[in-house]
Amino acid sequence: MVRLESKLLFKRAASIDLHLHLDGAITSDIARKLAVLQHIDLPTENEEELKELLTVSEECRDLNEFLECFSLPLKLLQTTAGIREAVRLVSERLSKQGLVYAEIRFAPQLHTERGLTQEDAVHAALEGLKETDLHVNLILCCMRGGEEHKNMETVNLAEKYLVTDGGVVAVDLAGAEGLFPTKDYERLFLKAREAKIPFTIHAGEAAGAESVRDAIAFGASRIGHGVRIIESEEVMNLVKEKGIYLEMCPTSNLQTHAVESLSDYPLLTYMEEGIRVTVNTDDPGIEGTNLTREFSLLEEKGLTGTQEKKLLENAIEAAFTSEEVKKELRKELLATD
Ligand code: HPA
Ligand code: ZN
Repeated sequence: MVRLESKLLFKRAASIDLHLHLDGAITSDIARKLAVLQHIDLPTENEEELKELLTVSEECRDLNEFLECFSLPLKLLQTTAGIREAVRLVSERLSKQGLVYAEIRFAPQLHTERGLTQEDAVHAALEGLKETDLHVNLILCCMRGGEEHKNMETVNLAEKYLVTDGGVVAVDLAGAEGLFPTKDYERLFLKAREAKIPFTIHAGEAAGAESVRDAIAFGASRIGHGVRIIESEEVMNLVKEKGIYLEMCPTSNLQTHAVESLSDYPLLTYMEEGIRVTVNTDDPGIEGTNLTREFSLLEEKGLTGTQEKKLLENAIEAAFTSEEVKKELRKELLATD
């Protein structure tokens, strides 16, 4: 009986993903479909070899190496048809897995290798949204190490297309945190704040807690990962006091060695400390994971049904969407309004 209840809560818990990269969600079957659509030759016809090319290797040493895995998926995302279809296929896959709401993020500046403008890429993704039944919103990523004018263009596009639901809802900063520190992006997020664009920042993943402190000082309401705030009691208190939501992604953090083992994973500690945590996949294609699997890993570490419900409540509250949509999600997933 207890087991059944826990299973039920568990299934519902794995229903919202707030941190998922479009290019990181290209599985081998999606890659094949995108290749056929765009008449692109994949480096191999062999399924096993293709899977190996698309997923991170066990020898991956850090985030920098992890990010190298994105080159093949990105080759398939350089036309409007490719981006549109990728958004549709990824959303369809999430829907089949039982998700009811997702925020898909991508960096428009990484989709301009074959002549698209950043705006073309945003348009294409918005077209893809129209073709899916899943409730999806988009987050536009700026890139660490990207040229400043390109990052500014991304923020300007977010301002132009910003809605409270059904399209572009926020911006982010992705890329190599260990090489390009958060403090260098102050101007960018000043602009985002002036334009009243909600934002999250990848921080406390390849760099330490000070990176999260900087992101919060800029005005981030959510932090991508934040797994390393465990290194600073002061930053943990700051995150707690400010009610910042952490978008935690266990498999990703293990693969990039932000954390060395699941037993060191600080999610339960954060929850016990009253920090607002959510569970997400980051790059399900590259990591070979899905949201159910992420929850299974945490269950092995002792995550309870009650904690799963809390994680789901947090995901609803953290979502970059309207209060009306949150109300609907609460009704549907928590049986309350
Ligand atoms: N960190 C930074 N950039 C990324 C990541 C990540 O974990 N995944 C995809 N882009
Ligand atoms: Zn990420």
